[in-house]
Amino acid sequence: MAFSEETRARLDIEAKEIIARYPRSRSALLPLLHLVQAEEGYVSNDGIAFCSEHLGLTAAEVTAVVTFYTMYKRRPTGDYHIGVCTNTLCAVMGGDEIFAALKEHLGVGNDEATEDGRVAVEHVECNAACDFAPVVMVNWEFFDNQTPESAKQLADDLRLGNDVRPTRGPDRLCTWKQASRILAGFPDDHAGEGPQAGDPSLVGLRLAQERGWQAPDPDNLPTPDAGDTAEGGQ
Ligand code: FES
Repeated sequence: MAFSEETRARLDIEAKEIIARYPRSRSALLPLLHLVQAEEGYVSNDGIAFCSEHLGLTAAEVTAVVTFYTMYKRRPTGDYHIGVCTNTLCAVMGGDEIFAALKEHLGVGNDEATEDGRVAVEHVECNAACDFAPVVMVNWEFFDNQTPESAKQLADDLRLGNDVRPTRGPDRLCTWKQASRILAGFPDDHAGEGPQAGDPSLVGLRLAQERGWQAPDPDNLPTPDAGDTAEGGQ
């Protein structure tokens, strides 16, 4: 899909704004890829050409980055990307079952969108939310402690346009394109809204406060015994 003249003019301005944030222009590649993904829903050949022109990189160099990171899509995905964590803890707590149930329920394979283009399902790696396992993300917002049934209901609600709210964070969901624009560095000013840390994440902090525990002073750490180090143990 080629960009219209008007879109291209706007993207040129926004690309320059992104590039100006970095001492070396090529460092802007990741947000620029999110910028073109925000426009088309995926990184097309035109999107790759746009990035390579702005950054003085070859199309091969840009393509190598696009295909390395799974957050960039090379073909259209759903308005709502459902990422099911199947990393170790979530997998054993039910993530594998959720992923299998969703694929079967929606009739799609990994990283495929439904025919109506509303949702896509993909297995994702750990989202650093293991205390809420098994975790599902929709456009990178958390849905904690899921089950196969709750995940199927979530997918149905997204397809039907029903009101869906993440467990933590803002009380609303962005579309895939809107989320890509935020990742390009154009925030929607909702990032600080809603509950941030849930109860399980705060248990350790609460225990430390009750017992008066503190982190060691980094400038005054005890010297480890020779026997405590890998070399000393050999
Ligand atoms: S293993 Fe799923 S969030 Fe960490």
